[in-house]
Amino acid sequence: MAQRESWATRTGFILAAVGSAVGLGNIWRFPFQVGQEGGAGFVLIYLLFIALIGFPVMLAEFVIGRRTELNPVGAVKQLAAGRFRYAGWLFFTTGFLILSYYSVVAGWTFRYVLLGLQNDYVADVAGAEQQFLSVASGLDAVLFHALFMLAIIVIVGFGIRRGIELAVKVMVPAIIVIMIGMAIYAFTLEGSGEAYAYYLSPDFGYIGSEWQNILPAAAGQAFFTLSLGMGVMITYASYLGEDRNLAEDGLIIVGFDTFIALLAGLVVFPIFFSAGVNPGSPGAGAVFVTLAAAFGEISFGGLIGAIFFFTVAIAALSSAISILEVVVSYLIDEHGMDRLSATTIISVVIFLVGLPTTYDIVVLDLYDKLVNDILLVSGGFLIALFVGWEISDFAIDELEQGIGDLGSWGIAWLWLLRIPAVIGLLVVVLLGISGYYDFLTGDFAGWLEQTV
Ligand code: PFF
Repeated sequence: MAQRESWATRTGFILAAVGSAVGLGNIWRFPFQVGQEGGAGFVLIYLLFIALIGFPVMLAEFVIGRRTELNPVGAVKQLAAGRFRYAGWLFFTTGFLILSYYSVVAGWTFRYVLLGLQNDYVADVAGAEQQFLSVASGLDAVLFHALFMLAIIVIVGFGIRRGIELAVKVMVPAIIVIMIGMAIYAFTLEGSGEAYAYYLSPDFGYIGSEWQNILPAAAGQAFFTLSLGMGVMITYASYLGEDRNLAEDGLIIVGFDTFIALLAGLVVFPIFFSAGVNPGSPGAGAVFVTLAAAFGEISFGGLIGAIFFFTVAIAALSSAISILEVVVSYLIDEHGMDRLSATTIISVVIFLVGLPTTYDIVVLDLYDKLVNDILLVSGGFLIALFVGWEISDFAIDELEQGIGDLGSWGIAWLWLLRIPAVIGLLVVVLLGISGYYDFLTGDFAGWLEQTV
């Protein structure tokens, strides 16, 4: 059997993981979640989830991947006895499903780059909404979904070093530099002070009355944005050597991801406020509609919008390749397929699974909520349970490779996984299931009735 691939450099691994983490989740999903869940209170809870649950779970994924040098399905099978043996399949399924609609949304962003270059953003919200509908559904959406899948097939097809590592070395620094530039620009806009206040001062009364919604949304967002709960970090760590300090790498990755998400808020909200559009309009399409309307309004909006959406698009690319790599590594490790056939075949299937979401944004919501509110957090729950309780002895030992004796830090890590992560995520999964049920029997049922 061919030797398993590996990262060429430490920076390569970190950039790939940062590239995976920083994506639509930071620049598209985060602001719309903040808008929908009432501003700064949501941000605060989100940060708590990142630090207390997200970071420990990321280390848990690293440990599983590096120890086994396998894809998530194979890794869990190798380490687990009994009931956990099949948990890897949850990761595979989630990855599959996420990528199918992630690619559709990424396709919209490419389309919005072109609209900007043609100076075609519509200044009023009603018009921008019409425009969004034509971008987000029908033939256009299908076409851009296909193009995006093609782009990631090429990158992943070239493999770890010549494909993923090379791509992220260009893309990730570009994302960071452009986002900082955009935030400085947004600071100069009229109304930025008001926007910062909305974004940065929490309303504790709102948190108190809406916690059932805010908690799962914040936990789901934390997992989504850190690419946790579906084996991306297991897979990426499986290409690592034993000499790396996983805790340090993890901190850098979490730090960059959080920085870019917070920065995205500093970009997006001033633009909303300066154009006089409502930052809190709900729904997955709102950020596109509102931003396009805002870019239609401000001077040089076409160009600035094109740059903004271009950044979102490459951030989406560097995330999507990590999801595809999860599924591809499974086919290579477990079924002995060659990389290029594995990549192409599975991508065609993923493309097809994504097609229904180009029919109506409600279908996309159906996918996104299932993934975010239930599947990712369930994956995180299983990982915390598994590493915290089942394999804790060697987990500490593995984490210590490349670091040295962890002492009480190691114990703290395990106990964060054992209690707050396990219990917190269980509660979130249950809330997520009940929320999803409400969505299915409410909004979604209503939509079905109207459509069929
Ligand atoms: N972290 C990515 C983002 O924030 O856009 C999305 C993502 C990638 C989610 C990989 C899950 C995943 F496994």
